[in-house]
Amino acid sequence: MCGIIGVVGSNDTLATLLQGLERLEYRGYDSAGIALVRSGHTWRARTAAGTESVAALRVECEDNAPQGYRSGIGHTRWATHGAPEAENAHPHLDCSGHVAIIHNGIIENHTELRVELRERGHVFTSVTDTEVVAHLVEEMRSTGLELLDAVRHALVRVRGAFAIAVMDATEPDVIVAARRISPLVVGTSPGVSYLASDVPAILGRATAFYAVNDDEIVRLGPEGFRAVDLEGAPVRLRQLHIDWDLETAEKGGFDDFMSKEIAEQPTAVRSTLLDRRRRDGTIVFDELRISDQELREVQRVVLVACGTSLHAAHVAKYVIERWSRLSVDVDIASEYRYRDPIVEIGTLVIGVSQSGETIDTIQAIREAQRRGARVVAISNIVDSSLAREADAVIYTRAGLEVSVASTKAFVAQVAALELLALRLAQLRETLTPEEIERNLQGLNEVGDHIATALSRSDDVNAVAQQLLEARDYFFIGRHVGFPTALEGALKLKEITYLHAEGYAAGELKHGPLALIEPGVIVVAVTTDPQMHEKILSNVAEVKARGATVIAVATDDDEKIDAVADFVLRVPACDPMYSPMIDIVPLQLLAYSLARGLGRNVDRPRNLAKTVTVE
Ligand code: G6P
Repeated sequence: MCGIIGVVGSNDTLATLLQGLERLEYRGYDSAGIALVRSGHTWRARTAAGTESVAALRVECEDNAPQGYRSGIGHTRWATHGAPEAENAHPHLDCSGHVAIIHNGIIENHTELRVELRERGHVFTSVTDTEVVAHLVEEMRSTGLELLDAVRHALVRVRGAFAIAVMDATEPDVIVAARRISPLVVGTSPGVSYLASDVPAILGRATAFYAVNDDEIVRLGPEGFRAVDLEGAPVRLRQLHIDWDLETAEKGGFDDFMSKEIAEQPTAVRSTLLDRRRRDGTIVFDELRISDQELREVQRVVLVACGTSLHAAHVAKYVIERWSRLSVDVDIASEYRYRDPIVEIGTLVIGVSQSGETIDTIQAIREAQRRGARVVAISNIVDSSLAREADAVIYTRAGLEVSVASTKAFVAQVAALELLALRLAQLRETLTPEEIERNLQGLNEVGDHIATALSRSDDVNAVAQQLLEARDYFFIGRHVGFPTALEGALKLKEITYLHAEGYAAGELKHGPLALIEPGVIVVAVTTDPQMHEKILSNVAEVKARGATVIAVATDDDEKIDAVADFVLRVPACDPMYSPMIDIVPLQLLAYSLARGLGRNVDRPRNLAKTVTVE
């Protein structure tokens, strides 16, 4: 989950690479590096300055980079093999210093390749898995192969996941890029070609974008590109339809991407729900390539996901079971694959992933497919690996999400999953047409409720200001308030680095209650009227042990002020939609505390937006 970028044929090489790396920082930021290449010369700069690595690289390049280089590659790293230090930062060079390589992914057989290459006299200057590929390409080049074929032959020796870009100063103005599992796109504009891990890195520069598939190798030059498979046979890259504009990839007046994306949540939900209902009331997903009959035959649903997407999946369990009367399991994607899971006739597996590139989720759906399951992807990125590999896809339309801590993708995922639950209910006739209409109407009001919750950010800030000394948080909820609590705790720990745990409120007494003492903050989601009495009892239990309580409560809750120390109000709605609204004050609380504690909210330490390693 590093970010990679390359450009060939440009008059603006350095600026293109640095801007691209700044936009890719959310993929990793332990260290960063750049190589500028022209005939016979490679100029390289690498920095390891934690979350400021790309900024430090910019200073280094602006001071020292030579002029007149028309091609180069850049990398921002999330360390896997080798500490985040400058010598392990990419690009890596071969022994001659002519071959330069950047890589996202993991070369699984790097140890044996390193031993073999060392025996043949290669000298390594880093402890990364990546460097072996530079030396393999060097060997292939020494047999007289042109760069494209040298990379192709080198990759036959490599196991694992990669998106790589390779340059050689003895074949200048050429970049060879290749992909297996890790994402890679190619872009073009007249006289210039680009590659990147993600479209935003080259947005505003490339005018056409193309997806590279697994085991495809692309040779980019100023005149354009050509692609081959591992055997060297020509392949055509599929053009991508990209409707993001530059503003989407930039902060648009906000201090950071996280606050921008939190503010975009009403639109994220409204767009995801748009045009999903035909005049006759039928719920439709244009992109869902699975027949009504197949959906009718579903006997059981399994949701697989990671991180925030897993919490959206948890919400879906409650909703699908209630509305569609199907039994639902939620699985952590990285566990599902290795658990010998049971897939029976009629098992529908839903993979939920904002990026559609999380390797754990992709491997989980592959496992499900191997065992005969039909798979639906919920993805925010059109044409993502998950979307392509699944049998069917429903796109959330949250727009590009950059901040590592996911916000608008969560509400959009819940909205999409609730629509799918209603469609299943419609086909299975487990809700009446009137109930479905009422729910569709209710869902359509969620955007407005989120906007109301957002308008109360000052109230949340005021609470956060009083809690800057607190170090321990417990988030509790019941029913769909439970996944909301899990997501609230995740947001807090991701961006404040404070200790935060999410619990089903009823479970508190079975252990965690031992940790409650004065100074501990308990955040209780109390918005569900049916669960209200019960959760107030749980609040009383923690109050009695000295905790400070913040309640997320509906506007019409008159009892809550008497039991909570702080109350964050949200508009009342049907509990089934409430996670999309109740999460807003919890996101704002995490954000406000993180800012108050001086954290970098968009780039929390040790994390990355898209995790393409297991
Ligand atoms: C990473 C991110 C999280 C995200 C998770 C799943 O851990 O830091 O914010 O929720 O991956 O990502 P996905 O793209 O699959 O939803």
